[in-house]
Amino acid sequence: VDPGLTLNIAVPHTARGYPVRVAAGVLAELPLVVQRAAPRAKKVALVTDANVHAHHGERTAALIAAAGLDVVLQVLAAGEASKSAETALACIDELASAGLGRDDLVVAQGGGVVGDLAGLVAHLFMRGIPIVQCPSSLLAQVDASIGGKVAVDRPAGKNLLGAFHFPRAVLVDPELLATLPVRERSCGAAEMLKHALLFSADHLEALEQGAEGLLAAEPVVTTALVSSSIALKAACVAADPLEQRKDGGGRVLLNLGHTLGHAIEHASGLSVPHGEAVGLGLRAAARVACRHGLVGPELEARVTVALARLGLPVDLDAWLEGERGAAVLAAMQHDKKRAGGTLTYIALAGVGQPRTLALTPDAIMAAVRSA
Ligand SMILES: NC(=O)c1ccc[n+]([C@@H]2O[C@H](COP(=O)([O-])OP(=O)(O)OC[C@H]3O[C@@H](n4cnc5c(N)ncnc54)[C@H](O)[C@@H]3O)[C@@H](O)[C@H]2O)c1
Ligand SMILES: [Zn+2]
Repeated sequence: VDPGLTLNIAVPHTARGYPVRVAAGVLAELPLVVQRAAPRAKKVALVTDANVHAHHGERTAALIAAAGLDVVLQVLAAGEASKSAETALACIDELASAGLGRDDLVVAQGGGVVGDLAGLVAHLFMRGIPIVQCPSSLLAQVDASIGGKVAVDRPAGKNLLGAFHFPRAVLVDPELLATLPVRERSCGAAEMLKHALLFSADHLEALEQGAEGLLAAEPVVTTALVSSSIALKAACVAADPLEQRKDGGGRVLLNLGHTLGHAIEHASGLSVPHGEAVGLGLRAAARVACRHGLVGPELEARVTVALARLGLPVDLDAWLEGERGAAVLAAMQHDKKRAGGTLTYIALAGVGQPRTLALTPDAIMAAVRSA
């Protein structure tokens, strides 16, 4: 295992935070990490999905067994449809019938679907048991596993039933990405581009330079890029662990690209994956910023080139006119209602210079259409 990077993220109302270990091969530390996370544990619920299990499940179960613990395996069907209250309840019932107790723990190995669902299960089971997150998709490594938000979806909305459940540890092993489909790598890269645009010109340059290596899951490039992207998200969530800051700093900034991104995702009937939609939303944010005089047109041009290099679509204009445009606007209006009548739109005065704007969905559409 290379020494890699270890970050510690503070947890509110506790003296200690949780470590995030990022290194190629770091999964080998799982036996030690589970023993530390729950010293009196006898059983581990290993929650994963069918794809991840096929590639990595046997080894991960063996690592847990090497710590002297019994593995209770929970393999979800792959895909967002598994992130449901029904699946969470079925999982809780199975942990109970397998005899898991208060001293035991959950290990989540998968993408954001697995991490979010397993996190909520760990939060609710016997009023909360520890969880160790072992994210296996790029998106989960740089985004979903960091910050303690856990949730399942309801028919009325994504992530509608959720909580904060901070992990005992996060083990980020970029070697797991070797088996991740390349389109999923691009989707994770969209969130990395978001972190770069929000917080770091250096990370942006590294992403632009390393795009090819990242898409090829080249280990050295990937580990370096994943580490710096996580560090940026970690700093943001540490400054606002429970998303309570009202000053426009903090976690709300992480919505960059997501106002229009979510709307495109929904307007497409979810046929445009989240990361691809967020990529288009990042381009839109640069355009809105330009229309508002915050920045020149060169930022949108740079974002567009970066998206293309990262294997992400750039055809924003296709989502602004006609039936599609109307559906995007309607989706933003729906999100605005859910948010209690206001939308905080995140724009940029430059790379690393986020700005919050109070804009109506109509004003957002008008600004993005004015290209
Ligand atoms: N909690 C948070 O703060 C947070 C932040 C961002 C996103 N999310 C949530 O994350 C979810 C999306 O996460 P995602 O993009 O990882 O989706 P996902 O969990 O569905 O994973 C994407 C696909 O990659 C496969 N996969 C994952 N790791 C693999 C590997 N190593 N090898 C082969 N295949 C692998 C999965 O089986 C799945 O088919 C959404 O539900 C979203 O709401 C949560
Ligand atoms: Zn996102």
